Amino acid sequence: MISAEENRLLTETGPGTPCGELLRRYWQPVALSEELPQGAAPLRVAVLGERLVLFRDDLGRPGLLGLHCSHRATDLSYGRVEDGGLRCLYHGWLYDICGRVLEQPGEPGGGARRDEIQHLAYPCEERGGVIFAYMGPGAPPLLPRYEFLEVPPPQRSVVKIAYSCNYLQANEGNIDPVHLSFLHRYMGDEQVLRGRLVRGADAADNVLLGHDNAPTIEVEVTDFGLRVYTVRATEAGSLYLRITNFIMPNLSAFGGSTVGEGYAVHWHVPIDDTRHWKYVFMFSRERPLPAELVEKSRSELGDDYRLLRNEANRYLQDRGSMSNKTFTGMGFNFQAHDAFATESQGQIQDRTREHLVSSDKAIVAARKLLLNGIRELQAGRDPQHVVRNPEHNRFPHLAVVSEVVPASTDLKQYWRKFEREYRPA
Ligand code: FES
Ligand SMILES: [Fe+2]
Repeated sequence: MISAEENRLLTETGPGTPCGELLRRYWQPVALSEELPQGAAPLRVAVLGERLVLFRDDLGRPGLLGLHCSHRATDLSYGRVEDGGLRCLYHGWLYDICGRVLEQPGEPGGGARRDEIQHLAYPCEERGGVIFAYMGPGAPPLLPRYEFLEVPPPQRSVVKIAYSCNYLQANEGNIDPVHLSFLHRYMGDEQVLRGRLVRGADAADNVLLGHDNAPTIEVEVTDFGLRVYTVRATEAGSLYLRITNFIMPNLSAFGGSTVGEGYAVHWHVPIDDTRHWKYVFMFSRERPLPAELVEKSRSELGDDYRLLRNEANRYLQDRGSMSNKTFTGMGFNFQAHDAFATESQGQIQDRTREHLVSSDKAIVAARKLLLNGIRELQAGRDPQHVVRNPEHNRFPHLAVVSEVVPASTDLKQYWRKFEREYRPA
């Protein structure tokens, strides 16, 4: 449980709010590249409570501008993309991606004082199939060179999913290892049929998750955030070890379908305080992703990136399937389960009424890091994991493990060994 004050501190993300300022110190996804092909209409987007327009100029460069024209506020997302920028339909002002007014064609001489106007503009970078923006003050930090953004296109995929709740509660779901034994559980024969085999065992992931519902959880602070160790006993007397990560300030990395050769990432970007986009990344460092895996990442998702199962249709829960198919009765797609669990907490979870238990320790630790980050930036320092040094811009130690190991394994030692092997020479 935290105080109402702390809950506000962690969940309010608009301009000028402490957490909003924290999130603005990091590059944030603002759209998928596929939403904005060359020649496409500008996109009206809302990010962190700000109304913006995202467009691609005639050189193909993405630009993120304030939605309303600096002249008399007409919506720029209706504008014409031409002549090196975005042109307002009302009186033809032309903006480049940096927010400079290139033309005021209705003014004598093209507007002698147009250089005095700086329209709101945020720097953008495009990587890994996503357009990122830096919405903070000062010089932008480096966009982290995460593996999931860097591998060749056939080896990665990304999609986004609309969520009707605050970003924080959905991200807290990612660092809650116990829910895997319940929310995402398959029932009956499905348990064996649908499970991915775990390295070091010939058992399916969800069989192992179902065998030990009360794992041991340990948390370790790293430079990027948290490393979370979850250990479950197996029937054979060995240990099912999972290592997952919380990455400051609003993403998490965990197993998923490519674990062993890559991992999955959920990145939760506020639209405003009661809605957000969850960007779902998946990659393999070894091979192209199978087409069916990429397809599966978009299952039960409409063209508007909204889940077909949602609150309005009670997530299409079929109680008849709860005994022999899934724990939830909401089908086999984990994304729908997560949406149900977190959206139904309320638009902004009231954390003054929760009762945290020992298995919530990663959630407690992540909240501390966020509060600490807010304090750091209020003291005029870069918060944790703002990367400015190119030599520090690599993350081989951001690794995800899902493996069965002998019971005698010293887990911290095991990790060090793994870390050494993992780091490229
Ligand atoms: S309102 Fe946009 S040019 Fe006048
Ligand atoms: Fe989940």
